[in-house]
Amino acid sequence: MELPVEKWYRAISKRRSCRRYFPQYLPQELVYQLWHVITKLNETRRSARIELLTESPDPVLKGIIGPFGKIKGARAYAAFIGATGDEHVAEETGYLGECFILEATANQLATCWVGGTFKAGAVAGLLKTAPGEEVLAIATVGFPYLKHPSGGHNRKPLEKLCTGLPREQWPSWAEAALEAARLAPSACNRQPWRFTVAKNSITISLNKPPIGKLSPRLDCGIAMLHLELGALSRGVRGHWEYLASPEVARFTVTD
Ligand SMILES: Cc1cc2nc3c(=O)[nH]c(=O)nc-3n(C[C@H](O)[C@H](O)[C@H](O)COP(=O)(O)O)c2cc1C
Repeated sequence: MELPVEKWYRAISKRRSCRRYFPQYLPQELVYQLWHVITKLNETRRSARIELLTESPDPVLKGIIGPFGKIKGARAYAAFIGATGDEHVAEETGYLGECFILEATANQLATCWVGGTFKAGAVAGLLKTAPGEEVLAIATVGFPYLKHPSGGHNRKPLEKLCTGLPREQWPSWAEAALEAARLAPSACNRQPWRFTVAKNSITISLNKPPIGKLSPRLDCGIAMLHLELGALSRGVRGHWEYLASPEVARFTVTD
């Protein structure tokens, strides 16, 4: 599937995690639009897929962990399901899930990734997932109750995140790509990534260990999509190769 660059790139700076929603079901035309995109997205990745549930996530949400409070009012959620036998399942799930999040944002919907405070087994039971599949995260979806939904949106400046070439020598597309990656959401806003800039490539590496079962590689998968959209917004195409830990993946410009 061709990434809808303009629409999703614009959505990057609009997206914020939302934890309080109007208790309103999604209109049918929005559900169809999301299903349509999910169907296409599910053809693109070998080890991750998405399912949309048009019902309240309340029964599968756990209590409060961390500073942000319980999510309330949502009437729909997406489940991000991974084939856990694949060594890159976390990155693939992060990348694919964020495609869904940016599509929802572009349709004026609010979302929140939920990787910790949900009952993965209960969602798997509802969806009757196949053996070897696991629900790695969900995302609540709906209409925001408040205009400026939640805190926790601060980000580290690029100077603290980047190594490699000095900034004045970055290729012209790198600034947009890195700024988009910097804005990626991450569990507990840990921003567990570093970027190494070279003339023709940017490498994402880990700089934090996992929290519980949730791999920071999933966060890096989200940052991969943002970085790629930032490069594409400047007309630069590239390809990804996965790398061994602590590196995650390298984006290299395609000639
Ligand atoms: C993989 C992942 C898991 C997350 N899990 C939770 C969660 O369990 N509960 C929650 O309230 N927020 C969760 N979040 C939302 C983050 O706290 C939020 O993205 C971060 O604070 C940055 O804020 P922003 O999304 O508004 O930019 C998660 C985000 C990601 C990317």
